Amino acid sequence: MNVIIKKDYEKMSDYAAEVIAQVVRSKPDCVLGLATGSTPRGTYAKLAIKHKQGLDFSRVKTFNLDEYLGLEIELHKPYAFDQSYARFMHEEFFKHVNIRKENIHLPKGRAEDPRAFCTWYEQEIKKAGGIDLQLLGIGGDGHWAFNEPGSSLSSRTRVIDLSAQTIDDNYESFYKRSGIEKEKMPRQAITMGIGTILESKQLLMIANGEKKAAVVAKALQGPVTSEITASAIQLFKGRAFVVVDESAGAQLKSC
Ligand code: PGA
Repeated sequence: MNVIIKKDYEKMSDYAAEVIAQVVRSKPDCVLGLATGSTPRGTYAKLAIKHKQGLDFSRVKTFNLDEYLGLEIELHKPYAFDQSYARFMHEEFFKHVNIRKENIHLPKGRAEDPRAFCTWYEQEIKKAGGIDLQLLGIGGDGHWAFNEPGSSLSSRTRVIDLSAQTIDDNYESFYKRSGIEKEKMPRQAITMGIGTILESKQLLMIANGEKKAAVVAKALQGPVTSEITASAIQLFKGRAFVVVDESAGAQLKSC
């Protein structure tokens, strides 16, 4: 595992974007696993700049980690208070680069049969040849994607109940801004499983801010446990980058 501590959020985002860009340059038809949340915003902004400078996404395929159940828009349709991760991806990344619409894969928050959709999504990842690089944040409760505490470390893409902490965290970061009440937030999501994520060829986990310092240290240096599903990074066999800013890396021990 390569742990890289950068001075601040800007530098963390620069580094993470360059790791992704290197994959795209060396394999123009690569498969990227993408994440949402406040952490990757800067990384996507840096990738958009790289695109303006010539980085080509026209053959890149993407698979997103998760989506709230009951929320999802059709890309490129008008929307106002849409808090889906599909909208987030469109706003923060897709509309700024030349990724083809047919190469974008997002968990379907309005799937008629969410469980059948999860099986299909796993098959699509396999059909694409697997994920070359998976971008990940880490939740306040130590989750990867929506693999909440207690999720099996061999779990696959599935429907999951959100933890009280995730509902609180995401209310702060997304919903509050749109004026939606907490009671109206979805309580369930579709998420890639930890087993699915661990099949990626490379992982890139990013975290910033002092709020993440304790959980980052637990995930990287504490026991591997389903109570902190990001601790599964310690089991990962491929190349893993963890890029954090100084605040999020403050509780890491040199060992
Ligand atoms: P955040 O979320 O980037 O908004 O902190 C991270 C996550 O839940 O994975």
